[in-house]
Amino acid sequence: TTAIPVITIDGPTASGKGTVAHRVADRLGFHYLDSGALYRLTALTALRHGTALSDEHGIAKTAEKLPVRFAGDAMWLANENVTDAIRAEDVGNMASKIAALPTVRHALTGLQLGFRKAPGLVADGRDMGTVIFPQAILKVFLTASVEARAERRYKQLIGKGFAANMEDLLKDLRERDARDSNRAIAPLKPAEGAHILDTSAMTADEAVEQVLKWYAAARKQS
Ligand code: CDP
Ligand code: CDP
Repeated sequence: TTAIPVITIDGPTASGKGTVAHRVADRLGFHYLDSGALYRLTALTALRHGTALSDEHGIAKTAEKLPVRFAGDAMWLANENVTDAIRAEDVGNMASKIAALPTVRHALTGLQLGFRKAPGLVADGRDMGTVIFPQAILKVFLTASVEARAERRYKQLIGKGFAANMEDLLKDLRERDARDSNRAIAPLKPAEGAHILDTSAMTADEAVEQVLKWYAAARKQS
């Protein structure tokens, strides 16, 4: 499987990882892994079961036994389509908290590695290039100013029918950035050799084109 190419796209919340990774995967005909969704699915389940954050063992068990099914862009937990439910801000916040637990990260590793299938994979998250796929042919670190990201998230939430307020979002984003960057395990940081792309003043499609160019160049070199 070492021949199956992987492109990793890591970065802070609302930097556009999901959008860009998904479009790059479509353009190349590759599989796509939204690793954050796995943390969100675990968080949603824990919230619903009332599992306390202090119950690391209980949350890791939840992660290990997620009854998840992927159908195109939809995600199902048992018989429920939770594609939209996992996007709520409280679920994202809980996800970022449980993501600091080593046993939870460990429990989700195998599931993530399983997405590497021919003809290739585009994976987005926080530690795709640093921990899960360190052998990736191309590693990208996508970023944008906190203001640009808050505005993107605002539009997304309103579009999905969630309530949103810019001030709370900015506060939320800053907290999430700090938590993701400062945790002891798999902190958010550019992988060795990663291309850094600041998209504050770019459209998602411009970012996609840049990633495809880097991929073409990386393939020539390998
Ligand atoms: O969409 P957003 O960037 O806010 O979050 P996400 O990618 O859906 O991930 C939700 C949370 O899961 C993040 O805040 C991270 O703390 C965590 N996560 C992680 O620790 N490692 C990953 N590979 C992906 C997500
Ligand atoms: O996955 P992540 O949390 O990093 O971001 P996302 O869920 O892809 O959300 C980014 C939002 O900003 C989407 O609505 C995109 O259409 C928009 N956007 C972008 O992704 N990239 C840009 N350069 C500009 C806007």
